[in-house]
Amino acid sequence: MDRASERPRHFASDNYAGICPEAFAAMVKANQRHEVGYGDDTWTEKASNLIRDVFETDCEVFFVFNGTSANSLSLASLCQSYHSILCHEWAHVEGSECGAPEFFANGTKVLLLPGKHGKIDPESIHHAVNKRNDIHYPKPRALSLTQCTEVGTNYTVEELKQLADVARKFNLRIHMDGARFANAVVGLGVAPKEITWQAGVDVLCFGGTKNGIAVGEAVVFFNRELAKEFDYRCKQGGQLASKMRFLSAPWVGMLEEGAWLRHASHSNAMARRLESAIRGLPNVRISYPVDSNAVFARLPDEVVEGLHRRGWKFYTHVGGWDDSRLMCSWDTTPNDVDSFAADIKELASALAR
Ligand SMILES: Cc1ncc(COP(=O)(O)O)c(C=O)c1O
Repeated sequence: MDRASERPRHFASDNYAGICPEAFAAMVKANQRHEVGYGDDTWTEKASNLIRDVFETDCEVFFVFNGTSANSLSLASLCQSYHSILCHEWAHVEGSECGAPEFFANGTKVLLLPGKHGKIDPESIHHAVNKRNDIHYPKPRALSLTQCTEVGTNYTVEELKQLADVARKFNLRIHMDGARFANAVVGLGVAPKEITWQAGVDVLCFGGTKNGIAVGEAVVFFNRELAKEFDYRCKQGGQLASKMRFLSAPWVGMLEEGAWLRHASHSNAMARRLESAIRGLPNVRISYPVDSNAVFARLPDEVVEGLHRRGWKFYTHVGGWDDSRLMCSWDTTPNDVDSFAADIKELASALAR
């Protein structure tokens, strides 16, 4: 047996984790009897209403299979093909979705913005919009923010407000990639509405998978006008589940008694535990503030290789950076963190001698 298979859990991705008990139990319940297909079922209605309760507003809700489709289809509904979408240069929609946003939006161009710690610098929006205003330039129409960002940081309420002010000035609609939205909510200690519709977000891709659901994200339109015919877009994009209840029921399990926040809070706490165990070790540098369930660390190659030899899985050079990305999940245990950190310590210290 290789050493990796001896490890019950890894730090590679919150996608590596299984289904949390609350989501699993809801799927089992949804499996007891027949239900109407294609979303006209009681589970989908209940899950949509729970999402409206979470956000304290009457939003439009759709359930799709994954984050790429949630992002692509929602962005497509904000833009015409001759528009452009502004996003951070490290955004998932830019580098990790194989061009799906441009594909589903029929050629809408993605324009890249800089910013520290994975967060868009509001000044760069001015620059991108004002750079050209002639008919040859793809007209900026949407601003896409990732919350938590690709490097595990969070936009604060104030930072979102600044971005929304600029977006409003230039008539940009705001899309939020919330693959780890739950981690942002607990990390910031805010009400979900404060970092979405109250901050000017038009549409949120609310992540379920990384939070403990088997499969699925919710597309939440706060600007209901933009949701017009989104059901057709989902169907055409292959995202209308016939047995929709198995996408929606897990949300009921997650939201009904707050499991989504408990799990996010736990994975954030595990990341903080890992950060404090390895910060300050020789040859180890923490690259970004640890605001959520990810620790990005610069580790020497010898340490990375040693950890891999000991069976730990985690990604390096994610998105082209030199960092190792160490992700915690809803089921990461303190013991997992401590033994991983002990191995990092041993390998890094041996190198320093
Ligand atoms: C920031 C971000 N957005 C979206 C996604 C969702 O992608 P997928 O299509 O794999 O569900 C991910 C998954 O890694 C992500 O990290």
